[in-house]
Amino acid sequence: MIILALETSCDETAVALMDAAGHVLSSRIASQEDAHRLFGGVVPEIAARAHLENLPPLLDAALRDAGVKLADVSAVAATAGPGLVGALLVGLSEGKGLALGLGVPFVPVNHIEGHALSPFLSVDGEAASAVPESFAALVVSGGHTHVFAFSGRGIERLARTRDDAAGEAFDKVAKMAGLGYPGGPAVDRLARRGAARRPFAVAQFKDRSLDFSFSGLKTAVRERLGELGRTPEEDAPQGLCDLMADVEEAIVAQLLDRLARLHDTRRFGVLSVSGGVAANTLVRERIPAWGRSRGVDVRVAPRALTGDNAVMIAFAGQRRLAAGRLGEGLGAVARSRWPLETLA
Ligand code: KG4
Ligand code: ZN
Repeated sequence: MIILALETSCDETAVALMDAAGHVLSSRIASQEDAHRLFGGVVPEIAARAHLENLPPLLDAALRDAGVKLADVSAVAATAGPGLVGALLVGLSEGKGLALGLGVPFVPVNHIEGHALSPFLSVDGEAASAVPESFAALVVSGGHTHVFAFSGRGIERLARTRDDAAGEAFDKVAKMAGLGYPGGPAVDRLARRGAARRPFAVAQFKDRSLDFSFSGLKTAVRERLGELGRTPEEDAPQGLCDLMADVEEAIVAQLLDRLARLHDTRRFGVLSVSGGVAANTLVRERIPAWGRSRGVDVRVAPRALTGDNAVMIAFAGQRRLAAGRLGEGLGAVARSRWPLETLA
């Protein structure tokens, strides 16, 4: 049983092949960062066109890497949402066409489910680890900051951001500081050269909601940035490195505040941490450390699978296939919004 997966929801074109035990047979990712950098963000029309160009050679390369022929593929999965509709349509249509042509099942996959399951995957040739029946999932990326509870009863959304996503906060702060796009990795690098000195307040809602809010941080950072000039990353003054360390601390402090309060009432035994921001050094240190102090088994996605990739889509697709839950199958449409909690 070999599943082929395609991911084209945003600015990464990705193809992966996986076997029934969850071994990664191949994984190819074509980043479009260079095409969008000029605009300081993802341009939907450019993304869709780039997917169309990148996908055929990427598919050939992924098959070659795995030593697999198309005829060996026993199911096809593709991301159907949430994401940019024009971009999604490229992978979704290609996936449906391949499944139809091969006469194998087609599984539409929710991108966020892919992220949430990615911490159970291995990238060093080992099989995927067993996914527990119930676990909490923190998904932190450029577009999402969500906490879900997965259980036999289904998927429940426990918290979401009310304004910016955590990755968006990293990106906006980096842009204000003249650090370029995407900003998370640059903030991470500068923070390593600095020390957090002046903590930012953790945003709280009057109703004690567990939702996230990162837009206030941006404003607070803008004020402090005024005290520093704009410089290229290599020449960043110590004050900027320290400020980026404060920003990183503030974002991680809010994630931990919500997780700790959630754990007080929900008591989860396993927590998966995924999405682009799960690549962040402090996130990878602090959340597992918190878990150890509370008896929570924290699984952070392998660094290589924190950003968008097709391995996670293959894994989510394979689980749905095994459970006989193909959703709308070939009838699936591309969805810009597709709340995970609406899935069975
Ligand atoms: O999951 P992803 O590749 O795309 C989305 O689905 O959004 O996440 C990208 C986000 C960007 O906001 C990027 O700045 C952030 O993840 N990111 C990081 C780091 N690496 C990527 N944020 C903080 N520290 C990092 N090391
Ligand atoms: Zn993503």
